[in-house]
Amino acid sequence: MSASQPEVKPRLLTGDRPTGPLHLGHLVGSLQNRVRLQHAYTCFFIIADLHMLTTRSEPEQIAAIDANARGLVLDALSAGIEPDGATFYLQSAIPEIHELAGLLQSLVTVNRLERLPALKEMARDTGQEMSFALLGYPVLQSADILSVRAQAVPVGKDNYAFVEITREIARRFNSRYGEVFPVPEIVPGEVPVLVGTDGQRKMSKSLGNAIALRDTSAEVRKKVMGMYTDPNRVTADTPGTVERNPVFSYLATFATDRDAIERMKARYRAGTIGDVEVKEYLVAVLDDVLDPIRERRTRFEGSGYVDELIERGTKQVRAETQQTVLAVRKAMGFAGVWNRIHRRAERRRASEGSKAAG
Ligand code: TRP
Repeated sequence: MSASQPEVKPRLLTGDRPTGPLHLGHLVGSLQNRVRLQHAYTCFFIIADLHMLTTRSEPEQIAAIDANARGLVLDALSAGIEPDGATFYLQSAIPEIHELAGLLQSLVTVNRLERLPALKEMARDTGQEMSFALLGYPVLQSADILSVRAQAVPVGKDNYAFVEITREIARRFNSRYGEVFPVPEIVPGEVPVLVGTDGQRKMSKSLGNAIALRDTSAEVRKKVMGMYTDPNRVTADTPGTVERNPVFSYLATFATDRDAIERMKARYRAGTIGDVEVKEYLVAVLDDVLDPIRERRTRFEGSGYVDELIERGTKQVRAETQQTVLAVRKAMGFAGVWNRIHRRAERRRASEGSKAAG
């Protein structure tokens, strides 16, 4: 490929709500998948703070967005996303995403949205009635995906129905107004499987059962030593169960020495190894996983690097989204006042550009 003809890769878009530090569940559930995919695509990672507002709109939660956004990007870079091939951007700083979402709203029915189990669950979790914002969650997500005309969207199962709505909206738009959008494909592979340190529920920061990627070795040790194991095991010589024992699930997920795990399981079942020894082993295994992540973090943190990256990405995606909205308005046939104003502004910009160039 010559330098003047850069390779055109398909576009990938995915992202997260900036609700707090990423943890081991994200690492195995989504980050590792994104790291694997990154070179085959031009990657866009949205920091979906407007989506966060659909369930968390208290002032304190909004005040935490900036720090959480920075943390999210730093976590992604630490996990191995390379900043050169990726564009990170803050959703709320691009008002045209809302404009696009508004223009798409007539392409989906309230009934279709109300029936989505994922939305019903989210509403139930808030303990409140479904808000208008939450009902519109999939439409807003469609605007995210379509604003950069993404072709590939790697998401977890909980998001499949939302991307399905995006596909319907894209198809409906294209057939009603003319081809503007590629119909995006779901890329499977994001699988949130990791149980929390409590051994009860999925790892989640809000449940207090998470090991964060940014945790120090000492913090990891403390959390592992406090981990739930087998409640029926009172002493180290009581035979224990490894099934549904989160210490062993973590070993299965993160340890590379399969034989060592099998030996430990056998000893655990026989009551010839204590919880503490198994946990010590797990701490070492997790440090092996987290050390390269910690090392990369030190390279990217500080000196405003991440802020600058988000700013640059946001400007770039804003310009792209403006182009998309323009194409949408043209396809839909908006003419008249808006069009004249816009054309005039366009001509002015063009002549200023040629003056500056000449
Ligand atoms: N809905 C995603 C979540 O569960 C976040 C998100 C917002 C997203 N916009 C997106 C994911 C666009 C993929 C593509 O947190």
